[in-house]
Amino acid sequence: MSTERVLFVDHTGQIGGAELILLDVVQGRKDSSVFLFEPGPLGQVLAERGMSVVTSRRGHGLGQFRRDSSWLEALPLFGRLAAITAELAHVARKHDVLYANSQKAFVLSAIANIAARRPLIWHLHDIISPAHFGALQRRMQIFLANRFAAKVVVPSEAAAAAFIEAGGRRSLVEVVPNGLAVEPVPVSREELRQRLGLPSGPLVGVFSRLARWKGQHVLIEALAELPDVHGIIVGDALFGEQDYAAELRRLVTELCLGDRVHFLGHRSDVPLLMQAVDAMVHPSIDPEPFGRTLVEAMLAGVPVIATDAGAAPDILEHGRAGLLVPPGDARALSEALDAVLAQPEFLAPQLDYASRRARTHYSLARMLDSIGLLIRNVGAGAAV
Ligand code: UDP
Ligand code: GLC
Repeated sequence: MSTERVLFVDHTGQIGGAELILLDVVQGRKDSSVFLFEPGPLGQVLAERGMSVVTSRRGHGLGQFRRDSSWLEALPLFGRLAAITAELAHVARKHDVLYANSQKAFVLSAIANIAARRPLIWHLHDIISPAHFGALQRRMQIFLANRFAAKVVVPSEAAAAAFIEAGGRRSLVEVVPNGLAVEPVPVSREELRQRLGLPSGPLVGVFSRLARWKGQHVLIEALAELPDVHGIIVGDALFGEQDYAAELRRLVTELCLGDRVHFLGHRSDVPLLMQAVDAMVHPSIDPEPFGRTLVEAMLAGVPVIATDAGAAPDILEHGRAGLLVPPGDARALSEALDAVLAQPEFLAPQLDYASRRARTHYSLARMLDSIGLLIRNVGAGAAV
């Protein structure tokens, strides 16, 4: 039973991978609250689960503001950010520990906490690098972390290395791999396809929100080389990437793939859809901080083809638990897909190994134990 009064903070009302982790972390913490910058599905789910949720009155629509936007574009937002910081400072005083679950949440929590002085944990779900953040943003994040964070939790060694390379203090870092608990349902692939209305031939899928760095365009280009293969693109533009979503549809039309590439939008039945495909593709063109979908596919017993960057090589044990291809290389991806689809029986030992690895290294219980202990230690440190 957790007794610390933790204030969890997130900038978005949408439910991306980081928010799915948050939903698991807050479970059972009845004395804690969640502060969200904007309303949305995340606040609704938290409230349905009985969590106390405080939603800022000034943050509406901020989640659609892209993190690679310039400071000039951000200028008009400063007044609203200052108002959110003031609200946050007020709520923070009623809690023992602050837990920021995103970089925007961390920056504002660090400032809001200057007076309240509660121990502040930053769960950093990003790779701090020029590919993901502007120079000023990186400098500010690192300065605030080194000065004000009690701990920086990251989901992978890749995210830890990037934080340290950007100037972050090594002693702050705690690597806690993401944990998942998804049990495959005992039903054949064919039956699932029928049930879900999916095509019956060779079928592959990508299951990430639509964003250029997630690389869905590379899968579409690879499918152009594989005439009999269908692909499902699951996910939507959650964080202001609508232009990219439109670009993907144009690409499909240009390459005449309309009858083979199926956009399914955001879905809440990803584990089932994943079990229905012959291969799960993780085509991120920039280093992925973790990639929950990798572990979801490993647990589902589905072959994984991922790009060789960020946390993927670690999670897939450098190719033992899945195939790795260079980022942004449609030809290499189509060749890998061809190999996997041609002789799936050869992959049985790899799938077995991947599933065992997912269960031992990336279990939900293990993640929750590590984070629970960390919160307790940080809270206890403040109490003495
Ligand atoms: N997801 C989902 N519905 C979708 C697309 C994705 O529920 O339509 C889930 C997916 O199963 C995964 C999470 O969203 O658990 C995405 O997490 P990941 O770490 O792969 O990437 P992120 O989007 O957080 O960068
Ligand atoms: C972020 C990252 C993703 C990670 C997720 C949960 O959204 O992009 O790689 O799996 O957070 O940590």
